[in-house]
Amino acid sequence: MKTVRFEPINESLEVRTQSDILQALLAKDLKVLMACGGKGVCATCHVYIKSGMDMLTPHSDREKRSLGRITGADKRSRLACQARVLGEGVTVELPEGMYIERAEDLITYVGQRAATNILHPINGSVLVARGKIITRSRIEELKSLNVEVAKLRESV
Ligand code: FES
Repeated sequence: MKTVRFEPINESLEVRTQSDILQALLAKDLKVLMACGGKGVCATCHVYIKSGMDMLTPHSDREKRSLGRITGADKRSRLACQARVLGEGVTVELPEGMYIERAEDLITYVGQRAATNILHPINGSVLVARGKIITRSRIEELKSLNVEVAKLRESV
């Protein structure tokens, strides 16, 4: 068993050696959309490794490709579904924002200001910035997202 630390929520979890970070996030009840079903091709399980990168399995080619198109990814980035824990000292930082899967996910928020950035599930770009009002017209503009996610699902 190994201990993984999560920030900024300041919590830890014991995980089995070789289990992936995604399992740890789910065990902590941290909502992960898993738009690609854990196949390493979406942005919804993107995390930053604050320490212990060398205690994780190396990036696969697929993960490198996916991280290459995620907005906000840098050398600390991993896809939680692809990174397995090998040793102690791993600290995971959760990116700020909420991923959506379908434009309609925002309907209950119409007329409200976004409490956090609303993020694209495939590339992580900001669809609605924190503080901006969520409008019906913005939701209409985002309908192409539904097609993109359906295509992603077909391709994996
Ligand atoms: S769940 Fe899609 S890349 Fe991890």
